[in-house]
Amino acid sequence: AAAFAPRTRSLALPTVLVAEKLGEGGLELLRKVANVDCSYNLSPEELCAKVSLCDALIVRSGTKVTREVFEASKGRLKVVGRAGVGIDNVDLQAATEFGCLVVNAPTANTIAAAEHGIALLVSMARNIPQADTSLKAGKWLRSKYTGVSLAGKTLAVMGFGKVGSEVARRAKGLGMHVVSHDPYAPVDRAHAIGVELVSFEDAIAQADFISLHMPLTQATAKIFNTETFAKVKKGVRIINVARGGVIDEEALLKALDTGVVAQAALDVFTEEPPEQDNKLIAHENVIVTPHLGASTAEAQEGVAVEIAEAVLGALQGELSGTA
Ligand code: MLT
Repeated sequence: AAAFAPRTRSLALPTVLVAEKLGEGGLELLRKVANVDCSYNLSPEELCAKVSLCDALIVRSGTKVTREVFEASKGRLKVVGRAGVGIDNVDLQAATEFGCLVVNAPTANTIAAAEHGIALLVSMARNIPQADTSLKAGKWLRSKYTGVSLAGKTLAVMGFGKVGSEVARRAKGLGMHVVSHDPYAPVDRAHAIGVELVSFEDAIAQADFISLHMPLTQATAKIFNTETFAKVKKGVRIINVARGGVIDEEALLKALDTGVVAQAALDVFTEEPPEQDNKLIAHENVIVTPHLGASTAEAQEGVAVEIAEAVLGALQGELSGTA
């Protein structure tokens, strides 16, 4: 009978609040050594009410871990785990002030994000989402959906980190000429893939396609703005699987309306979810997905295990006084 007894909460174990869906492999690891509370879709108030009872919190990009969250935790929260790469939804300054570690899962969703970037690149160039919608509505519009070829075109990969370099490698396989701008990129890694590292201005001036792969920081916020769009090649096509905030969305809308930007493929937005009447999303030359870059079964399982290990490592260091 003992084998079927329901799990009871152990007071000696740390408590981990999992605030967004996490793969089973990660949950299993956590449950071995912690009390795990999976509570999704919490309002900011509900999250604040729960954190004072938790030693660790795990989120994806949908939860804002604000200063209020750290204040409400009253010092109990020791680790925030971001099940993904970008930690721009966590107030790092407040985390530091409250002595809370912030860890992420830096590798497991790289390929998924790169593949989604390529999926958007190809779908946009060949008008696949629009043609699909049109055919399902009973229309047969072959010339309206004539696309553009990728082979021989120049792709500028803005940010040559893990995802950017994998996008570059795949784009080379499609016969594209790939240049990249990244002040921190290792030159030999770029050259090994056949990618030329160039300045920001050179990259955007020569590109037929621009794919964004930089983190959202103070330096990159709205780095694609009216001034930037004034320097691109007319008719450029833009893919964003990084963060919505690196583009000034008003400026992009104008650039689309004037034909400076021919098309955009966006997986990320300044506000997520975006407001209902978002003009960019409704634009006929824009294709969109709801922040799906990391959303493959494989990536989510990998991320879950990677973040569970990072959070437990941090908690163990914390509990034994070494973190
Ligand atoms: C990331 O930062 O890893 C991606 O945006 C994926 C996600 O938010 O889940």
